[in-house]
Amino acid sequence: MRKPVIAGNWKMYKLLGEAVETALALKPLVANANHCEVVIAPVFTALKTVCDRLEGSNIKVAAQNCSTEQRHGAQTGEVSADMIKDVGASHVIVGHSERRQFYGERDEAVNLKAIACLNFGLTAIVCVGENLAERESGRDETVVETQLSGALEGLTVSDMERIIIAYEPVWAIGTGQTATPEQAQAMHRYIRRTLENLQGKTVAEQTRILYGGSVKPENIKGLMVQPDIDGTLVGGASLDAESFAGIVNYK
Ligand code: PGA
Repeated sequence: MRKPVIAGNWKMYKLLGEAVETALALKPLVANANHCEVVIAPVFTALKTVCDRLEGSNIKVAAQNCSTEQRHGAQTGEVSADMIKDVGASHVIVGHSERRQFYGERDEAVNLKAIACLNFGLTAIVCVGENLAERESGRDETVVETQLSGALEGLTVSDMERIIIAYEPVWAIGTGQTATPEQAQAMHRYIRRTLENLQGKTVAEQTRILYGGSVKPENIKGLMVQPDIDGTLVGGASLDAESFAGIVNYK
């Protein structure tokens, strides 16, 4: 069956010392969490040190972005997927709504980033999700379907083994307004149906679909009992080791 994934997205928070401190504080708190995969995503500057300090633990490390370019070259400010792999990370968050919103990232770029991850043996956590206006005008499913088919363009069934989907309704991110477990479940079911159309039944049944948007220790249980919610992508509540551990150890 699908092993849950609990991932923490640290966004642009924490200097190196703070990142190491949080990672080391988290290590013993989640050491017995065999029911799920635990992933944290520090900023690029902390990536190698956090990977080194977590070596041998059950915590995996993700980057929050990668370049669309796979070949090293004149791309000032970019970091390629193989550079991320090189420092010991195993996952990359691609297409986060903040990248789409503030940096103009389009589905084509998300697709190229996912492909770059796959080519270097990384797992891509592909984010999709509608904003408030899109939900209120009843376009939420269409928006998510377009993002999904755009991001997964050209991927094979075996590529899909290293793709995790994160459904993050933009209106629930950092707002304290979580989607209700029923709202989240309804969209997760829709995403799974869309995956079935795109990649077939087996892929749809095996792909982990995470929910993100104001997940906290207080609301994790209600989300995780939903049949199509296979974990969470956590922002604010992942910054503190105790609070993130409270989410990881939801069982
Ligand atoms: P949040 O962020 O948990 O702070 O709402 C989630 C995310 O952006 O991944």
